[in-house]
Amino acid sequence: MEDVYPYPVARIGLIGGGQLGRMMVKAAKRLGCTCVVLDPLQGSPAGQVAGHQIVGDYSDPAKLRELAESCDIVTFELEDIDTETLITLEEEGHRIYPRPQLLATIQDKYAQKQFLRDAGIPTSDFIDMPQADAAAFAAFGYPLVQKARRGGYDGRGVAVMTDETAFARRLPVPGYVERFVDAEKELAVMVARNVGGECRVYPTVEMRFHAGDNVLDFLVAPANIDSETARRAEALAMRTVEAMDGVGVFGVELFLAADGGLLVNEVAPRTHNSGHHTIEACVTDQFEQHLRAILGLPLGETRQLTPATMVNLLGEPGYEGRPVISGLAAVLAIPGVCVHIYGKAVTKPGRKMGHVTVIDDSIDSACEKATRVKTLIKILGDKKL
Ligand SMILES: Nc1ncnc2c1ncn2[C@@H]1O[C@H](COP(=O)(O)OP(=O)(O)OP(=O)(O)O)[C@@H](O)[C@H]1O
Ligand SMILES: [Mg+2]
Repeated sequence: MEDVYPYPVARIGLIGGGQLGRMMVKAAKRLGCTCVVLDPLQGSPAGQVAGHQIVGDYSDPAKLRELAESCDIVTFELEDIDTETLITLEEEGHRIYPRPQLLATIQDKYAQKQFLRDAGIPTSDFIDMPQADAAAFAAFGYPLVQKARRGGYDGRGVAVMTDETAFARRLPVPGYVERFVDAEKELAVMVARNVGGECRVYPTVEMRFHAGDNVLDFLVAPANIDSETARRAEALAMRTVEAMDGVGVFGVELFLAADGGLLVNEVAPRTHNSGHHTIEACVTDQFEQHLRAILGLPLGETRQLTPATMVNLLGEPGYEGRPVISGLAAVLAIPGVCVHIYGKAVTKPGRKMGHVTVIDDSIDSACEKATRVKTLIKILGDKKL
């Protein structure tokens, strides 16, 4: 193909207007692309930056069609989308990446687990559990983890159960149960694969979760593991995305067991919270990389230039309404601190309102600064609950 591109290089249709979309729109503009965002909320975080938004639901066939018809290529920043319409649009010739059929497999977490098992990718044992059943749970054996098939995010569709008494907290939805993994660490590897099959991985990162809920609390990049384990994690993540014939950027979440074994927990067919540090710390960030991958452009270098940590800025408990950012100047005064505010009109307890990446010469000092950042900056709201 001739290496000549009229402006805009591509018109990107983006399903989902949240923070991942917002950061992708910024990368798209840098590359000379324009974006249209589909989101039910007028003035969504991504819509504000794109300047052009279709207001509508992710499962509204007419709106999905309008988006596809107004763009050269369609992608998404979330999983809960009507894939039937996307499959029809793809059959009609619209370019949609990652492919809708793969999204359909991944968005059904049980189907995703089956895919992993069938592809020979190590993952925890599991059985189908269309309805929570005390005897079936006990027969599978505790500790176990019950997961909803669909719609879960940030751990909302996950119930970790140590013994029978936890059955009272079961999820009242169709799901499955899987073996509890006593993980030493939770790791993630961002994988990029373009339409030509070129594949690159970012250095393995370590995710630390907040005790009590499952929202990522602290990201350490690169992970504090030996280089052989990092290499194995990266190879496994790449093998997973290749088995899926995935096109785009994928977040592969892994468990590192005490014996050094690695299991794939789940795969996100999109940019991921554990790749935010790539904006400041890597040669090519995950958002630009995703666009390069789906547009069939050469993938960028994934090399990490500096140690980094990342903390999410969650809506402070006890507040809602218009966000009020407390401690902003204090954290900006710390060298190496990069603040990202997502532009959400309303805060809620635990809602992802922004993140802070800290880059520093050593991972220890980056962690120390990130800990300080967490105590200094708070996303309050103009209404007290
Ligand atoms: N089999 C397991 N054994 C131990 N812990 C688990 C297991 N499955 C999930 N968890 C814990 O629950 C968290 C959330 O699970 P999972 O990633 O499957 O759900 P999710 O809702 O997609 O979460 P997110 O959107 O945050 O990625 C995991 O990061 C891990 O801490
Ligand atoms: Mg997860």
